[in-house]
Amino acid sequence: MTYSRILGTGSFLPARTMTNADLESLVDTTATWILERTGIEKRHLVSDGETCCDLAEAAARNALDAAGLAPTDLDLIIVATTTPDQFFPSTACLLQQRLGVRGCAAFDLQAVCTGFVYALGVADQFIRTGSAQRALVVGAETLSRITDWTDRGTCVLFGDGAGAVVLEAATEPGIISTHLHADGAYKDLLQVPGGLGNGHPELQFMQMKGNEVFRVAVTTLGRIVDETLEANGLSKSDIDWLIPHQANIRIIQATARKLDLPMERVVVTVADHGNTSAASIPLAFDRAVRDGRIRRGELLLMEAFGGGFTWGSVLVRY
Ligand code: COA
Repeated sequence: MTYSRILGTGSFLPARTMTNADLESLVDTTATWILERTGIEKRHLVSDGETCCDLAEAAARNALDAAGLAPTDLDLIIVATTTPDQFFPSTACLLQQRLGVRGCAAFDLQAVCTGFVYALGVADQFIRTGSAQRALVVGAETLSRITDWTDRGTCVLFGDGAGAVVLEAATEPGIISTHLHADGAYKDLLQVPGGLGNGHPELQFMQMKGNEVFRVAVTTLGRIVDETLEANGLSKSDIDWLIPHQANIRIIQATARKLDLPMERVVVTVADHGNTSAASIPLAFDRAVRDGRIRRGELLLMEAFGGGFTWGSVLVRY
């Protein structure tokens, strides 16, 4: 039996930051309101000319260094993003060119904030079936470019960044199970309505019914935790670390309560970068690996929820 094992992690945040106090001069809000309702203190934003591929490349190179591999060792590149630099080529192909490699499969995957979880699930299938031996999985976003900076209901929440992992085929897990779901009936609650043939400028930004999203997210993430534990015959106390999508501290706390996990066993980075969509889990994961909290052999539960709606989880023996 072949499994995929995580060899290395990496991440990158753009240098420019915007604090909650900075947002007070843009929209009718207060730094205290943002912190209390979301747990966010600041977000990182790309500068003019800085691209999603720039962020992806920096995170990817960090992850390759940590894995002790060269780009030429890869036979699969997946970039989870909702904010690609171009309609095409995919950000994964742009990244492949930057990394100086040719020939291996490279494609983008779009599942909004669940994108990294979906991408890990897909890469894991490639490796389990023998179609790939070493995969680079990146979550990279420039959400600031689809943010309406006059809408206080959304602009306080999102930020830019990238995270990455390198996977390799192994005889033991590694990734134990992945659980991916979607329900397009919720398409109107969180969306960028514009698209080809519907390209009015005012439709090119995120729209969200925040409190409805919040309610569905909390119940859905509770269910995915149960599903993951049941599928593997595990109990809550078996989980060493929860690495949740970093959207809102209150959603994270609700999932931690569901798992009876103290917050010390939950990786929380939302204060530093807000909701970076597909980048948020690998950003948090990399932080906790590099600061020594997460150690080899520990059992990790990653979970995410996003537009679509999409949701999913990955159970990993690190
Ligand atoms: N500053 C100040 N007040 C704000 C505000 C802001 N940035 N944004 C909204 N408000 C106001 C609302 O207008 C509303 O005012 P009203 O009572 O006078 O109508 C009040 O705060 C409460 O709004 P509500 O939307 O019910 O707040 P909330 O407690 O649900 O918090 C969110 C709003 C957006 C923080 C919260 O709903 C949330 O995090 N939702 C999930 C978002 C998310 O994670 N999306 C991505 C999923 S991947």
